Amino acid sequence: MSKQRLRLVVGNWKMHGRLAGNATFLEAVARGAAALPGSVQVGLCVPCPYLAQVQSLLEGSRVEWGVQDISAHVQGAYTGEVAAEMAVEFGSSFAIVGHSERRAYHRESVALVALKTERALAAGLTPIVCVGETLEERDAGLTQQIVGSQLGEVLAKLSVEAAARIVVAYEPVWAIGTGKSATAGQAQEVHAFLRKLLAEKGALVANVPLLYGGSVKPENARELFLQADIDGGLIGGASLKEQEFLAICKAADISGVE
Ligand code: PGA
Repeated sequence: MSKQRLRLVVGNWKMHGRLAGNATFLEAVARGAAALPGSVQVGLCVPCPYLAQVQSLLEGSRVEWGVQDISAHVQGAYTGEVAAEMAVEFGSSFAIVGHSERRAYHRESVALVALKTERALAAGLTPIVCVGETLEERDAGLTQQIVGSQLGEVLAKLSVEAAARIVVAYEPVWAIGTGKSATAGQAQEVHAFLRKLLAEKGALVANVPLLYGGSVKPENARELFLQADIDGGLIGGASLKEQEFLAICKAADISGVE
């Protein structure tokens, strides 16, 4: 009997949420997640001010949580930044690093993203390393070159053991928040390429979870999650509505299909 592959679904709230609405949402998601099979792991990456609330409402549930960015520094005079260790103090499991919105709006370089990945690992967080090409890059035939260098820079900094602890999210920039998801075939093609790069780093690294992100919805989640190299999703807009988010988590239960 082949071992069942795990699926990971992580919500990225971005800069959304308010205390009152969060409470209703978190309670509903914790209840809904309780009914999911053990093969589906669920996470939520929230704005830092809500970590305490999330911790108090999700502790003991099937849902883990984390942050959307961390500082490349351990501590010091870095106004506005949040250290990985601070996120850990609130029970975080995950830190998204290198999201395209950070790369675009905060000019985060591939080298900085690699450093943040190291920091997250050193603090005991699972970094969710985002890679993805713009539409211009895709149209110019540069997709593999772009995502290859984004992931390559991170892998080059890590030992095989450390690299085996990351999660990678392929998020084509043109699919984020646009309602225009990559097709399952387009996503699988890039995932297969990323899987090859991971495997080249070492056998231990070949099976790190590869998430797809970019306009994942209840309607397209299942087809994406059924692809050979898609191990789950990083969900933006649809992670703000509990029913949609839970429907995507349910779509990640592919027991009986594999
Ligand atoms: P989206 O965002 O699902 O709203 O497209 C995904 C992401 O940016 O992580």
